[in-house]
Amino acid sequence: MITRCYMAFAALSLSLAAPAQVDYQVVPLPQKIELDGSGRTTLLIKGQTVEYPEGNAQMKRNAEFAQEFLGLKPQEAQTPIKAAGKRKQSRTPLRAPVSLTLGLQSENPDAFVITVGQQGVTIQGASESGVFHGIQTLRKSIAAEQGDTIALPWATVASEPRFQYRGAMLDCARHFFQVSFIKKFLDILALHGLNQFHWHLTDDQGWRPEIKALPELEKASSRSCTVIGRNVGLHDMQNPICDDTPVQGFYTQDELREVVAYAAERYINIIPEIDLPGHMVAALSVYPELGCTGGPYPIRPYYTIDPDVLCAGNPKTLEFIKTVLGEVCDVFPSKFIHIGGDECPRVNWKACQKCQALMKQMGFQKEAQLQSYINAEVGDFLSARGRELIGWDEILEGGLSENATVMSWRGYEGGIAAARQRHRVIMTPTSHCYFDYYQLGNQDTQPLAIGGYLPLSLVYKMEPVPGELSEEEKKYILGAQCNLWSEDMVSPDHVMYMLLPRLAALSEVQWMQPAQKDFGQFTGRLDNLLRLYRREGYKYCTTYE
Ligand code: ACM
Ligand code: ZN
Repeated sequence: MITRCYMAFAALSLSLAAPAQVDYQVVPLPQKIELDGSGRTTLLIKGQTVEYPEGNAQMKRNAEFAQEFLGLKPQEAQTPIKAAGKRKQSRTPLRAPVSLTLGLQSENPDAFVITVGQQGVTIQGASESGVFHGIQTLRKSIAAEQGDTIALPWATVASEPRFQYRGAMLDCARHFFQVSFIKKFLDILALHGLNQFHWHLTDDQGWRPEIKALPELEKASSRSCTVIGRNVGLHDMQNPICDDTPVQGFYTQDELREVVAYAAERYINIIPEIDLPGHMVAALSVYPELGCTGGPYPIRPYYTIDPDVLCAGNPKTLEFIKTVLGEVCDVFPSKFIHIGGDECPRVNWKACQKCQALMKQMGFQKEAQLQSYINAEVGDFLSARGRELIGWDEILEGGLSENATVMSWRGYEGGIAAARQRHRVIMTPTSHCYFDYYQLGNQDTQPLAIGGYLPLSLVYKMEPVPGELSEEEKKYILGAQCNLWSEDMVSPDHVMYMLLPRLAALSEVQWMQPAQKDFGQFTGRLDNLLRLYRREGYKYCTTYE
């Protein structure tokens, strides 16, 4: 174990005395950093202009990000900005221009090149998102620098992410997080080069999104208390010892749209999750007729794999699901719509007349086929709207429709099986991606967590593409994601503490080629990023192992 907190502060005071050279060695490490070796620098001066191409609203927004992160002043270019190297050489390098341009030849839309030289500083992207990642890279490169003028060594810095899907999930059902924090969370994802926010919006403990056609759901956004300490299982559930603190929180559709727009400006897609047919007690608490037993189903103040789930044999269940998902599709433009599918016990289905009647009618042999039946219906509903179903790896059980995507969480096996069946896969195994696990071996020093042990070094080791897959099957692995389940995360500070700096390690998994990765080098590069965390007021675990 390496205790970093004192070292980090020592490094900070050292850097105040003697500013570190900008070396572009950021997290995630760019694929190419070529210092030109001349020892010459171009000055980046606070308040100088940054040019962006005329008539492009996203590039204008990118220039505003350059203002926020680099201290520059946006200015629309009057003529098309030429790519770096083709520009007429300036005789006044100290005031060389900074420009944002498109036109980088790459099949990867997130690819970028930063060129610093005689001609100034150019951030060129294969698309607007590439330019955004270039700006973030320059921001992190100068994180250790102080003052209004920063000397940038002449260099070419180029990168593109290894994976097209780079995600993080936050559970806002077990505990609720305000829109202001969701925006901060998105800022953190953007800083690390992620492009997918998986938003877990419903569960047994709370329903969060407004569904206009189902107004009762707002009542399901409130519970009176929460079990104290770590939840230990069903046998405690008859008499859970709870606090007296209500948890309440509901996102209106206007708020959800506002967050979608905020994310889009940062090139982050939001995948909403409505977890079904299990993890549905909050909805059942207000619509008990949708359960096999008729209820009552009090909203849960504790955490377990709840046996009370939606009744698969009741036609009203599919009606409910389609009403919810119809409005979800109206609010969220995401191609992927997450329908959960995890941890759905089938005990009630076995004893339920309606469920058994549907099984007989459909000729099903196993209750698992009832879940596949729901998945198929929902998949058709989504594809009629131009969307695609994504779910946890349990959706594989009982058969899965062709274009569904699988999130492999119970290890890598579900993802391997899915890829072999030609389903697209996101790897998010508990072993490397569950950021609700403890990050230090000495749990006594840590805030309450669900259990487990996932240190920074283990996150860093993750390899999302299993070696046992064929080259063809490997193409189905779209990327990797971390999950923050919030049973024990009661505040924004607590969420950030669990997220950081493990997200930094995951970002290298998501961006870098395996042969380039090196944990020792990574921890050396981490100090500047931690400096940025402090500057932004992000909480993080200052010790790592
Ligand atoms: C899960 O952790 N239940 C997907
Ligand atoms: Zn039933």
